[in-house]
Amino acid sequence: MSRYAQEFARSLADPEGFWADAAKNIDWYRPPSVVLDDSNPPFYRWFPDGTLNTCFNAVDRHVRDGRGEQAALIYDSPVTGTQRTYTYGALLEAVARFAGVLRGLGVDKGDRVIVYLPMIPEALIAMLACARIGAVHSVVFGGFAAPELATRIDDATPKVIVSASCGIEGSRVIEYKPILDRAIELAAHKPEHCVIRQRPQAVAELTGGRDLDWESAVAGAAAVDCVPVAATDPLYILYTSGTTAKPKGVVRDNGGHAVALRWSMDNVYDTRAGEVFWAASDVGWVVGHSYIVYAPLLAGCTTVLYEGKPVGTPDAGAFWRVVAEHGVKTLFTAPTAFRAIKKEDPAGELAQRYDLSDFRYLFLAGERLDPETYRWASELLGIPVIDHWWQTETGWAIVADLMGLEPMPTKAGSPTMPVPGFDVRIVDAGGTEVKPGDTGDIVVRLPLPPGCLPTLWQDDERFVASYLAAHPGYYTTGDGGYRDGDGYVFVMGRIDDVINVAGHRLSTGQMEEVLASHPAVAECAVIGVHDDTKGQVPRGFVVLKAGESAAHSEVSAELVQLIRDRIGAVAALRRVDVVTALPKTRSGKILRKTMRGIADGRDEAVPSTIEDPAVLDALRPVLGRD
Ligand code: COA
Ligand code: AMP
Repeated sequence: MSRYAQEFARSLADPEGFWADAAKNIDWYRPPSVVLDDSNPPFYRWFPDGTLNTCFNAVDRHVRDGRGEQAALIYDSPVTGTQRTYTYGALLEAVARFAGVLRGLGVDKGDRVIVYLPMIPEALIAMLACARIGAVHSVVFGGFAAPELATRIDDATPKVIVSASCGIEGSRVIEYKPILDRAIELAAHKPEHCVIRQRPQAVAELTGGRDLDWESAVAGAAAVDCVPVAATDPLYILYTSGTTAKPKGVVRDNGGHAVALRWSMDNVYDTRAGEVFWAASDVGWVVGHSYIVYAPLLAGCTTVLYEGKPVGTPDAGAFWRVVAEHGVKTLFTAPTAFRAIKKEDPAGELAQRYDLSDFRYLFLAGERLDPETYRWASELLGIPVIDHWWQTETGWAIVADLMGLEPMPTKAGSPTMPVPGFDVRIVDAGGTEVKPGDTGDIVVRLPLPPGCLPTLWQDDERFVASYLAAHPGYYTTGDGGYRDGDGYVFVMGRIDDVINVAGHRLSTGQMEEVLASHPAVAECAVIGVHDDTKGQVPRGFVVLKAGESAAHSEVSAELVQLIRDRIGAVAALRRVDVVTALPKTRSGKILRKTMRGIADGRDEAVPSTIEDPAVLDALRPVLGRD
């Protein structure tokens, strides 16, 4: 049996032994005597009686063990022309003092803190400071508009919000403070304080009595120590798109998360203490949480925080420059970033200008890795290009080629094999496993391994309804796909209303709710259609109310703006067509899948349940238009 097969089999046959061994790589105040609490299915808890501190394991521990002078964090910001390195010692000092600021503002164990920051070191410092005092952070991606931030404020009810005066998108300065102020105005819950990092590109006006300036607050604060928390206490809440307008508050615990991420650095990423790991994502997404912040620091690596884009800051050679300058061993990003680079530099000429000799692995996730991008990156770099599949809910890879355990032969289009701990099955709608090669829902047998969501924030019911009710005993991933005869998993796409735009997870259902709120709109549909660079982009179709006389182009423009104002620029809905009718089944369901197929140029069969084929025929030319 191969080493992978042995470890995988052991993880399922003896999960407690398997994860108890992995837990030895974490420093505990009280090591867990129980590994898995399965007394209350479908809720499972890992390491229920262990206590630890995630910040201690990510920072203090390395200083204690002699890594105080090693780089922990390299901030590389082409958009501001800045580079700054924090050693583990310096990071400890910064985190402990900011923890002192939060403590001084009355933040205690279990209190929530929203972090609405761009890609600057303060984002990591704020997250780790929360972990240090047992507070629960909830990072909100900077590309979301005020109403989205307000929804998260109302759900997480934070005592404090940490933000900045602005973010920088390429050459544009995006002022964050007006968005924050507006969100607080919209929210029913009001935070007691906001701590604002002033940046020279746009200095924000502070609200007296509520807002504090980051620098002055830190200057007056004393460092505070780590507090022990239960392994099952929440470390963070990360909101992600579901099928409705209300995002899902994915909860991450402390113990399972630390154990799983630490294990993944050795076994999935083959990246060790002292080596440089770069996740080119954003702290607002799960990839940023797990692989910019926690996993590389838990492993004693140097993590790179890059405030820039793959192209345009200043060119398509930016990634190669960062890899060369900082000696990056492992780069993790989304396929869309590589498609963007390829579009500008198809021959990969810019890569030749840099010394990439330390570069060993390119990991890609966040959306399907198309075989063409896989081939291009493999040929250009001559190193393993590894597709791996996971999601906000799991927090780490479900299916991957495990570089540190036993690399497998690659099959383009497949992220390879299930990671130990994930008992992946393909089932039909009735829950029966399908034959190899047949497509179905991808589900994972419970219990999920450590690191995955134990529930949704204060909503056990929605957790069960969203993920566990469809197939009792299994977690429904929301993705469809198949396994081939060798057991390789192929992930073909979402089976719900979630789409992936440039690696950003968005809900078409939520966009439909926004379009439907426009007074001229009678009904609407939003579908994700193929895009060469972003993978998918949303397109909207609306039917206007009878008697509506506004020009179609005007309504379209208003709807595009409405999505920007309500959800944010990141939704990237640039096109809404006004049509006379939407194709439906006889029971009134809009045929979104058929519309999507036609828009993507597939030979889509007309469903026998269609109410009026003429409606679909009339829509074909609109769907086909670029
Ligand atoms: N703050 C504010 N606005 C943001 C933002 C942020 N953090 N991130 C994105 N936006 C804005 C963009 O400026 C853009 O605004 P515009 O419509 O006014 O131009 C809009 O949201 C859409 O952004 P995006 O989809 O990223 O498109 P883009 O054309 O700016 O960039 C790529 C395209 C491919 C270069 C970019 O998406 C990218 O680098 N992707 C990498 C993938 C990634 O990091 N995924 C995370 C998970 S691994
Ligand atoms: P997010 O929660 O934002 O990380 O998005 C998770 C979703 O992105 C998954 O459910 C998949 O639909 C998609 N996804 C992530 N990684 C991959 C991958 N390697 N291959 C195919 N789809 C992926």
